[in-house]
Amino acid sequence: PVSLSGRFKGSFAYFTIKDRLPQILTRVIDTLHRHKNEFFEEHGEVRGVEAEKRAISFLSKLRNELQTDKPVTPLEDELPDAALWNQYLDYQRNLPNGNGEPSWFQSPWLYVECYMYRRIHAALAQNPPIDNFDVFKEGKAQNFFESQEAVIALCTYFQELLKNIKDLDEKQLQEELFKLLQVSLWGNKCDLSFSAGEDSSQKSSPLQSLENMVPYILVNDMEKVWSLLVNAKKNRTERSNVRVDIILDNAGFELVSDLVLADFLLSSKLADEVYFHGKSIPWYVSDTTKHDFNWTIKQLGSANHMWMSRCGINWEGNLKKGVWVFHDHMFWTLPHDFSSMSEVASDLYAELQKSNLLLFKGDLNYRKLTGDRKWEYSVPFHQALNKFHPAPLCSLRTLKSDTQVGLKPGQGEQIQASESEWMVSGKYGVVQFDAGL
Ligand code: F6P
Ligand code: MG
Repeated sequence: PVSLSGRFKGSFAYFTIKDRLPQILTRVIDTLHRHKNEFFEEHGEVRGVEAEKRAISFLSKLRNELQTDKPVTPLEDELPDAALWNQYLDYQRNLPNGNGEPSWFQSPWLYVECYMYRRIHAALAQNPPIDNFDVFKEGKAQNFFESQEAVIALCTYFQELLKNIKDLDEKQLQEELFKLLQVSLWGNKCDLSFSAGEDSSQKSSPLQSLENMVPYILVNDMEKVWSLLVNAKKNRTERSNVRVDIILDNAGFELVSDLVLADFLLSSKLADEVYFHGKSIPWYVSDTTKHDFNWTIKQLGSANHMWMSRCGINWEGNLKKGVWVFHDHMFWTLPHDFSSMSEVASDLYAELQKSNLLLFKGDLNYRKLTGDRKWEYSVPFHQALNKFHPAPLCSLRTLKSDTQVGLKPGQGEQIQASESEWMVSGKYGVVQFDAGL
């Protein structure tokens, strides 16, 4: 099937490129303006303010190129991934069914959207001394603070659970796993790229309404995740640890929900180690970088709330002990879909092959898993993965882009009939599993 693209007028891709991406760029420019004094104080007029001006002019040019559907141009910076991006542009140019010269509205949405974030990165990275400034950092921190009550509720629930986790029977453990999987699933609603930077924090208690939301989980493979983990635990030997990898998405409340899930996996002995995969550059507004990851754990550890700080301190301990590991790899911020990982990033593919279970968080990861195409809703997930099978995997995703596979025949059409926005409202979700080979 064809790629989602801005050339389909009226589609969500079209609307995103036309309205939301320029809005995000405008916010980035505003953010730089607002920090002018800080740049001045830290680096002086000549270095600091000049760098800010250059970055802003680069970004205004970018916004203009986007809005007037100009061709996508090769990257001119010398960052380590530039060559791969430029090769990918050539690949887009030579696609047999391509639409001529790649451009913002004519090319695949996934490609141009990723490209925009890479150019935002270049605007800063090329302009020392402000080259390490994360333009999205404030928004991510704000999202975290505005979710404070939900974070407290979740940490409190979890610390209570830990008190008697040893006495839980299998059925109870399964129930708790399902709960925390759902908290992590719905945590994916808190995404600042979807809201174009507007507040998107978790306000209500994350555990309260889970049951009412079950009908909105269109594919629910939680049982399969459970059996995989229980079997892995039974077959585990001293030499073969059970390893779960979480391919992270957004910082803020979603990240906290992922960390709680990861802690549960260790505390329940369903897993022995958890690897987290984050982004190596600021990405899709709220995606988690190494800085966000460490910052979040520090915030919790030093919080003025007993259960929050208990969580943070334990998690720092997990990192020190090496039972939690944070990784970032350049591949996660390339435009490629995951079916080309084995070729483009064979080291990362080999790393994922060591895992017993890969949990892919969020909408962008889902788009990259399935190639961001106009699939028929009932095409099997396995088929859409297009040979991407490093290990058994499960996607936890709320629907925020118009692609979906693996539904029962007629299921998608039925929802579509009464709710035309179902794929892009964030109201529905999937817990979608693929066993691999
Ligand atoms: O258009 C919605 C959007 O901004 C998409 O660009 C992207 O797929 C998604 O949201 C990002 O969502 P998530 O943070 O869940 O990956
Ligand atoms: Mg995201």
